[in-house]
Amino acid sequence: MTQDELKDAVAAAALDEIRPLLGQDVVIGIGTGSTADRFIDKLAALSGDFRGAVASSEASAQRLRGHGIDVFELNETGTVPVYVDGADEVNTHLQMIKGGGAALTREKVVAACAQRFVCIADGSKRVERLGDFPLPVEVIPMARSYVARELVKLGADPAYREGVITDNGNQILDCYEFMIDDPLAMEARLNAIVGVVTNGLFAARGADVLLLGTEQGVERLTPQ
Ligand code: A5P
Repeated sequence: MTQDELKDAVAAAALDEIRPLLGQDVVIGIGTGSTADRFIDKLAALSGDFRGAVASSEASAQRLRGHGIDVFELNETGTVPVYVDGADEVNTHLQMIKGGGAALTREKVVAACAQRFVCIADGSKRVERLGDFPLPVEVIPMARSYVARELVKLGADPAYREGVITDNGNQILDCYEFMIDDPLAMEARLNAIVGVVTNGLFAARGADVLLLGTEQGVERLTPQ
């Protein structure tokens, strides 16, 4: 199977996963990226079965609206029963690296408000140890150089993602050569650097369920 076919398979499995949670008053959380896009496209078939969605990016909001799905502000909805999103890497504890698409901050906010986080990923995203994928860190533009120097002190090789402005008007530093042994501690440590808005470690709030696309089918995994 191709990677795209695996993404389609997990998007379809996610639809089955959330179907029992839907209802006319229900607003669900939707992530960002190519796997989340496939989920949004499949969700269109159920658009009459729920109230709408909160999106973790302008791109996803636009795609949802394109399918006739109403998009709500998180401040209006409060908690959401479920959040569905992809990942750049995920380990057995269902801790993740996210933010390859630069939407990490809004993704983390919606995930924080979700009663359940369903991660959808093709098998290539599954790792033993997080860090081969360069960890994104969103920074306030004026703090970029300062934060980069602090990241070097922690052992990372940060690179400015040129030409990218996040939906929040900020910039991204990608941390190369930065293998992570203790994701929970590192997430907190990075967040403590002045000028950091968010980092792409999703450890404090990892996923509750992982739908992983493999050649043998979609595996449904929970945190080890
Ligand atoms: C967006 O900022 C990311 O966190 C995505 O969720 C992540 O990059 C996965 O994207 P793909 O589904 O495109 O691999």
